Amino acid sequence: MFNAAVVTVSDRSFRGERPDGGGPLVASMLKEAGYAVAEAVIVPDEQAEIEAVLCRLADSGTVQLIVTTGGTGFAPRDVTPEATLAVCDRLTPGIPEAMRYASLQVTSRAMLSRAQAGIRGGALIVNLPGSPKAAKENLEAVLPALSHGLEMLSGRPADCASLTD
Ligand code: MTE
Repeated sequence: MFNAAVVTVSDRSFRGERPDGGGPLVASMLKEAGYAVAEAVIVPDEQAEIEAVLCRLADSGTVQLIVTTGGTGFAPRDVTPEATLAVCDRLTPGIPEAMRYASLQVTSRAMLSRAQAGIRGGALIVNLPGSPKAAKENLEAVLPALSHGLEMLSGRPADCASLTD
């Protein structure tokens, strides 16, 4: 079983002005998929704070998947992608490509998400948009494939040919 962490990025939820809808939904989807959700945190749309929590979680050695929700759009304070790019060693562009490909079947506004994904050490970081609907649709598009990537990242032998998914 892999351990996951959920990071909600939202000024308003951080200040307690809006309930965090996306974070709990993402956590429940991860649990449903067989992940242990080790931590769920809310941070404001501050690049330094986002980078700090991503580094703390990735460098803990106990979390293999970090999913962020929020801060991927065009608003001046939407900086989750920049924080993610700053802390990753290797990017995994296929993940946001797959999310936007699937999401464009739902809404043309999917192109407005600047979500990124990448690897820091032994952890995969995946950005999702902030609204619960968008977070769910984006995560659904990639969740079935993630565990195979995490197996490879952990150094366990992973037989790609045996997989049909
Ligand atoms: N993707 C899906 N699947 N469904 C959606 O409703 N909303 C889009 C996009 N991606 C959406 C989506 C919109 S309107 C925006 S602005 C961007 O995600 C960024 O969202 P964020 O700023 O909350 O991160």
